[in-house]
Amino acid sequence: MEGRYSGVKALCEQIKALTQGIPYTVANLANISALLYESIPDVSWAGFYLREGEKLVLGPFQGKPACIEIALGRGVCGAAAATGEIQTVPDVHAFPGHIACDAGSASEAVAPVFGRDGEVCAVLDIDSYTPGRFCDADKEWLAEISAAVASALA
Ligand code: SME
Repeated sequence: MEGRYSGVKALCEQIKALTQGIPYTVANLANISALLYESIPDVSWAGFYLREGEKLVLGPFQGKPACIEIALGRGVCGAAAATGEIQTVPDVHAFPGHIACDAGSASEAVAPVFGRDGEVCAVLDIDSYTPGRFCDADKEWLAEISAAVASALA
């Protein structure tokens, strides 16, 4: 079961091909965010927040300008970073503490990215204007992408 994105295998291959041997984390995350935004259907924003101590700071992304700092535990991104668990939110308005960077955003998925020390070093955030775009069934492919992203970190 791959939720509502069937192209994950090819996408992970593309991530690896694009980033293998490139020792620049920001460049790799920038290219990955472009790839995700272009490849995954029905997405309004795709990108990264990078962990800086007790907060997340905006990293490479595609889409509209977004919030710069998010405290660990706040919003969907902060919940993923604090718990280390993938969050799929079919209705962002029902999520306690959701941070509305774009009033049009309706559903959201956030996957933690783990560094070599096993700690969360970033989160991958994907947003959609379509209510119900993300649900539990999407967690499997999000985990695969998160693992591919982890291997692209310098
Ligand atoms: N909505 C997110 C904040 C990040 S933006 O969507 C890009 C959240 O609640 O964590």
